[in-house]
Amino acid sequence: MPEPNLGAALLDWYDDHARDLPWRVGPAARAAGIVPDPYRVWLSEVMLQQTTVATVTRYYVRFTALWPRLADLAAAPEAAVMAEWAGLGYYSRARNLIACARAVMARHGGVFPDTAAELRRLPGIGPYTAAAIAAIAFDRAEAVVDGNVERVMARLFAVPDPLPAAKPALCAHADRLTPRRRPGDHAQALMDLGATICTPKSPACGICPLAPACAARAVGIAAELPRKAPKPPKPVRHGVAYVGRRADGALLVERRPDRGLLGGMLGWPGCDWRGAPADPPAEGAWRDAGAEVRHSFTHFHLRLRVMVADLPARTRPARGFFEPAHSFRPGALPIAMRKAWDVARGQFAATLPD
Ligand code: ADE
Repeated sequence: MPEPNLGAALLDWYDDHARDLPWRVGPAARAAGIVPDPYRVWLSEVMLQQTTVATVTRYYVRFTALWPRLADLAAAPEAAVMAEWAGLGYYSRARNLIACARAVMARHGGVFPDTAAELRRLPGIGPYTAAAIAAIAFDRAEAVVDGNVERVMARLFAVPDPLPAAKPALCAHADRLTPRRRPGDHAQALMDLGATICTPKSPACGICPLAPACAARAVGIAAELPRKAPKPPKPVRHGVAYVGRRADGALLVERRPDRGLLGGMLGWPGCDWRGAPADPPAEGAWRDAGAEVRHSFTHFHLRLRVMVADLPARTRPARGFFEPAHSFRPGALPIAMRKAWDVARGQFAATLPD
């Protein structure tokens, strides 16, 4: 059973070892009375779902430079926000981000509500994100259980059951451990501990502030936990991407429907990736670019055949629209579509944007 001073040991460790993260008000600043900006906490938490701190840092810095306040993001054109999100994946997060910014402006006068229950009523804010914002931005005593914290709990309490079935038990442990004093720092301390010491492989138990209380360490099974139920193998889906270029360099793109994979993002016209053949989006001499794109999504692997064509100046596309060469940014495409561009770009004669 963990010792009663576990929370204090964790906070002491955090005071000395907190990671310096661009969205974070560190423990010394927090103790000096500086409070986090809920907008920045929310933005970082939405970005950090399913994405690593290293990747998020770049996007977070760019977003906050472009849109320093909630009102700026709420007023931004959707296409601009989607283009900046490109490459982060899980694009429904970006659509919900815009909807949430606008909802906070419209429903709450631009001020984020300060309880998990109210936060959950906003678009794109589920139980995890609501708890994280309530704890970190408003110092509410909410347990914040991401993958790192699940691992810490599984080891600290030697929970043998595999994930995802073990999740409720791990959350209950995290709940019991959440203190009334400094709950925001406590939540971030657990995340940092999981990311830097209680790592998936070879945990550094020798320097862990919780080691004296860790049940898994006591019986030598820390590195084996948490157990995970085997995942079914991912199916492979096949599709096609038509990369058409007009004589003036304009590229034939389409905005994908809001619902579904890569929803709301720019992409190359193609098919539904379920094997049904798709007609080309415009008449032209389409040819196979000769290299297949491979990209993995959460639930399947995608293989895309890339077709290219030099399209006549007068082309009237049946689908999509021409993006002029000067405004076409490959960086505004999701990664799978960027890969198709990388295959196609060498197939055209003239110089093209990087
Ligand atoms: N992962 C999820 N939220 C985080 C945060 N606020 N700080 C560090 N890592 C995180």
